[in-house]
Amino acid sequence: MSTVNANLTYNYKVVRQFAIMTVVWGIVGMAMGVLIAAQLYWPALNLDLPFTHFGRLRPLHTNAVIFGFGGSALFATSYYVVQRTCQARLISDSLAAFTFWGWQAIIVAAAITLPLGLTSAKEYAELEWPIDIAIAVVWVTYALVFFGTVMKRSTPHIYVANWFYGAFIITVACLHIGNNLALPASAFKSYSAYAGVTDAMMQWWYGHNAVGFFLTAGFLGMMYYFVPKQANRPVYSYRLSIVHFWALIATYVWAGGHHLHYSALPDWAQTAGMVMSLILLAPSWGGMINGMMTLSGAWHKLRTDPILRFLVVSLSFYGMSTFEGPMMSIKTVNALSHNTDWTIGHVHSGALGWVAMISIGAVYHLIPKLWGLQSMYSTALINVHFWLATVGTVLYIVAMWVNGIMQGLMWRAVNEDGSLTYSFVESLEASYPGYLVRFLGGVIFLTGMLIMAYNVYMTVRNKQPAADNAAAQAA
Ligand code: HEM
Ligand code: HEM
Repeated sequence: MSTVNANLTYNYKVVRQFAIMTVVWGIVGMAMGVLIAAQLYWPALNLDLPFTHFGRLRPLHTNAVIFGFGGSALFATSYYVVQRTCQARLISDSLAAFTFWGWQAIIVAAAITLPLGLTSAKEYAELEWPIDIAIAVVWVTYALVFFGTVMKRSTPHIYVANWFYGAFIITVACLHIGNNLALPASAFKSYSAYAGVTDAMMQWWYGHNAVGFFLTAGFLGMMYYFVPKQANRPVYSYRLSIVHFWALIATYVWAGGHHLHYSALPDWAQTAGMVMSLILLAPSWGGMINGMMTLSGAWHKLRTDPILRFLVVSLSFYGMSTFEGPMMSIKTVNALSHNTDWTIGHVHSGALGWVAMISIGAVYHLIPKLWGLQSMYSTALINVHFWLATVGTVLYIVAMWVNGIMQGLMWRAVNEDGSLTYSFVESLEASYPGYLVRFLGGVIFLTGMLIMAYNVYMTVRNKQPAADNAAAQAA
């Protein structure tokens, strides 16, 4: 048990700011998700305007949820975890504040430029070059604050959560800068530095590792801190966590080729992507098992603690989507799943089940601590939120599995004379019930987020933020 330096203070202000914005961007991004889900069912909701068209609002959804919601959760928790596990204050309050305001400005810039149709047309990297430069500046500052704090730690070792956050920060910098290299043609138009299949390969090296590092490694850092904390148990195996770390980061970077099966990418590169994706199952499950087994001897807490339930169920979805992903990377399976709603179902079992649920659990854990309180305003409401999130996710992904497999089978069905059995429109008509169920799942998930916002508001209303004094907090 380490002793806490009585003079040590933490910078909790920036953590509070990012934690609140996690809820705000979660609601905005998911509301956008519900809107585009509705547009796919009721096309009239496109309103015949370019700004409100599905094609422009879809990237707004993905940017708001991944970078606004997920990004804010990652900033909040990494700044909290690095300070507490290193027993050191962030190296600079002003640089930390710069990352907060810079990141928010970037998301607002995305919310303005994407509906205007200003896009580089690279998925998850749509923002045009001036915003890309701003992202690079904010990200490098984030790296300085994070690693500077690790370097001035007063603990002998670096807790494994920081390894994952660190890998996420370094890799995202490389991915972002590498994939977005472009030649500006005007203030809002640029052309990629890469051409043809090289461009596609760079894009999916980026895209897959955005999943692997932005949507996974950072959230595993979150898992390694918040699951043991909430369960009040040490992490199951420290040795496994180190093996998990090195195996995961060494494998993820090679798997992007599975996004380009049956394309102009050389066949060996597609196969390499498939093989590395299959290998990736092992470290992914190693991490999931390490998180789950941390509950050994504490399973009974799940009956009374809905925050722990959020964290544990997120791990089950993580296990599920990292089983599904390797299966979908097998070329013959991908021949059926690619371009169908199955992919969308896979995405959201990861995004809603894993990323959103673990972030929600972590924020519920954080909010009372950041305001010096014992607990959230209402545990009953957290419980209601848990069930809404679980039911919403299940409805969403089951509807997309059914749609996806049906679409894949309909598109490949041929008559004896070789002609197609179904037209594309027939497969679309058959997909409508699934789109309605997905929309309902989304509404249910979003309702849970609104309840969370109310609960957070009632918790922090009229409250003074927690003293930044580490000794007081430790007490
Ligand atoms: C209320 C919750 C949500 C709803 C209703 C929703 C709905 C949608 C819809 C309708 C699409 C477009 C599907 C298509 O083009 O056929 C989509 C795409 C996407 N969403 Fe969501 N979403 C939600 C939450 C989230 C969250 C929390 C994340 C990430 C953390 C996320 C990440 C994505 C991604 C990455 C895509 C693009 C998938 C691809 O291109 O394959 N979504 N979402
Ligand atoms: C072992 C882990 C995983 C593997 C091997 C894997 C593999 C795959 C494969 C094969 C596809 C379909 C590519 C296509 O047909 O175009 C895919 C799509 C996708 N996966 Fe995963 N996946 C994994 C985990 C995850 C997780 C945990 C998440 C989210 C947190 C996620 C998010 C996505 C997204 C966003 C896409 C859609 C990309 C796009 O086309 O826009 N994946 N994944």
